[in-house]
Amino acid sequence: MPQGGTVWLTGLSGAGKSTIAHALADLLRQLNQAVEVLDGDEVRQHLSAGLGFSREDRDTNIARIAYVANLLSRNGVIVIVAAISPYRAARDAARHQIGAFVEVYVSCALDELVRRDPKGLYARAVRGEIAHFTGVSDPYEPPHEAEVVVATECTDAQACVEAIMKYLREIGWLSVSPVAQ
Ligand code: ADX
Repeated sequence: MPQGGTVWLTGLSGAGKSTIAHALADLLRQLNQAVEVLDGDEVRQHLSAGLGFSREDRDTNIARIAYVANLLSRNGVIVIVAAISPYRAARDAARHQIGAFVEVYVSCALDELVRRDPKGLYARAVRGEIAHFTGVSDPYEPPHEAEVVVATECTDAQACVEAIMKYLREIGWLSVSPVAQ
């Protein structure tokens, strides 16, 4: 069975986690690797429908994602998680549960996120219209020892994906053969 494991992208809303996750998934599929993306926005419409953004609800959301990621990872799938996952303890619990775990910190300066703001959420949070908005009125605990760190205010998505691929190659996760042309 091919190597399974979880690539866990953490970072603020709008930092680029989803874009990187889907571009990475496309590349891995070209290598004939089984891949699933667990994206925070999507998970919250299904598996975590009804949860809010209190610490307790976020921890529940992350624990559910970790549970599914573990099931898939141990069956040869590379799972790419894209969730803010702001609390270090919840990410560390996921790491211990899953084992084959690569944490990627998708960092981006707050002023750049406010400038991008595609969903208009930062503007609303700054006006005080969204309580507990990560990075504005709620904490984000950056990883101390992420395996890969990418800074999206100065690195495009393709280069971020290449940095992650380089790391996965180094640790032997990319030993599957390319799809026959
Ligand atoms: S997490 O904290 O539980 O990991 P998750 O990644 O699932 O968060 O969801 C984040 C998305 O929810 C954001 O991209 C944003 O679109 C939306 N959102 C709505 N309210 C908030 C909030 N208070 N803080 C952060 N994101 C929020």
